[in-house]
Amino acid sequence: MGFDLLVRNGRLPDGSTADIAITGTTIAAIEPGIAAEAARVVDAAGKLVSAPFVDAHFHMDATLSYGSPRINESGTLLEGIALWGELKALQTKDDIVARALEYCRQAIGKGVLAIRSHVDVTDASFRTVEALLEVRDIVRDTLDLQLVAFPQDGWFRAPGAEAQVIRALDAGVDVVGGIPHFERTMADGTAAVRAACELAAERGLMVDLHCDESDDPMSRHIETLAAETIRCGLQGRTTGSHLTSMHSMDNYYVAKLLPLIAEAQVSAIPNPLINITLQGRMDSYPKRRGMTRVPELLAQGVTVAFGQDCVRDPWYPLGSGDMLDVAHMGLHVAHMTAPDEMRRAFEMVTRTPAEILGLDFGLEVGRRASLVVLDAEDPIDALRLRPARLAVISNGRVVAETTPAETRLGDLF
Ligand code: FE2
Repeated sequence: MGFDLLVRNGRLPDGSTADIAITGTTIAAIEPGIAAEAARVVDAAGKLVSAPFVDAHFHMDATLSYGSPRINESGTLLEGIALWGELKALQTKDDIVARALEYCRQAIGKGVLAIRSHVDVTDASFRTVEALLEVRDIVRDTLDLQLVAFPQDGWFRAPGAEAQVIRALDAGVDVVGGIPHFERTMADGTAAVRAACELAAERGLMVDLHCDESDDPMSRHIETLAAETIRCGLQGRTTGSHLTSMHSMDNYYVAKLLPLIAEAQVSAIPNPLINITLQGRMDSYPKRRGMTRVPELLAQGVTVAFGQDCVRDPWYPLGSGDMLDVAHMGLHVAHMTAPDEMRRAFEMVTRTPAEILGLDFGLEVGRRASLVVLDAEDPIDALRLRPARLAVISNGRVVAETTPAETRLGDLF
């Protein structure tokens, strides 16, 4: 029988070698030396074949806007939020769509085939939501864009925000968001977490909160998120993004908190490039790293994925949509340099975020035929080199190919 696409001689993340046969949009076979013909053959030549990269935390309504209308002088989260407020008033829906599509093209070229993007719903014009709903439709066949209704200026702090969250969900936004540490008081933050969980339970949706993105060790909204997850029966459907205050918390308190997060099956999404940049800005020396306690969360059995968060926007001047950059920074900041830990870091930008988003990705027969061929020997080599994505295959279609750059050395020694 003939296949539609055959990836020959790929090295799987576990080190074994196999051909991957694709029929339509599904992986039909994974085994060495498949004899059948195929309409198209991609020769992986012994290079790493992986499940696609997935970014579980991004802001597509702000991306590629760096410098507009000015740059973030202090480098802090709070100036970023203020700057985004200025940009929101100026940008048109077409601006947002154009920048978002440009970012999607860049990310697809890097093998990213799914993104969970928060979309700010506190803009009364609603143009951010309308723009990203349009982008989600345009990219649908190639990239899964999951949207979170994110009240950037606070569920209670911004007038009308709760109604805007509901309006966004009614319009088709997928996930309930929030930002409890940005409410006026801890009590308002607690109430915002409760409101988000109740709304999600009512509508059968997932929750993903910007939670405790703060150096304040007393920012403990993750505790409320875990408790509300259990109370509302949302186990396995809620996520705490950032959780940076956990870095600064008292160890005794954390010893109680970690099992609670595990019990509630709350996922965690640290964003290492951004958290290492935004946090610790008010410290002298030593300066805190500001990323949450990743190895400790993993040891408790918590699902943890690394997110990109920002690329060239009011919060971060760099970034390229490359999830290997994200994992590279993440493993450095978390001291995850043992071989098993580095392989885990690779999974934290491929398999694990796909699980959080509820996607049918993975190198297994019967799953969606979405995968990436990298110019690397194995996942650790990929993290070290962050090499070319030789071929990116989405739903059985080759959607991007890259020829590796070649260095020609002169007569050196
Ligand atoms: Fe974020």
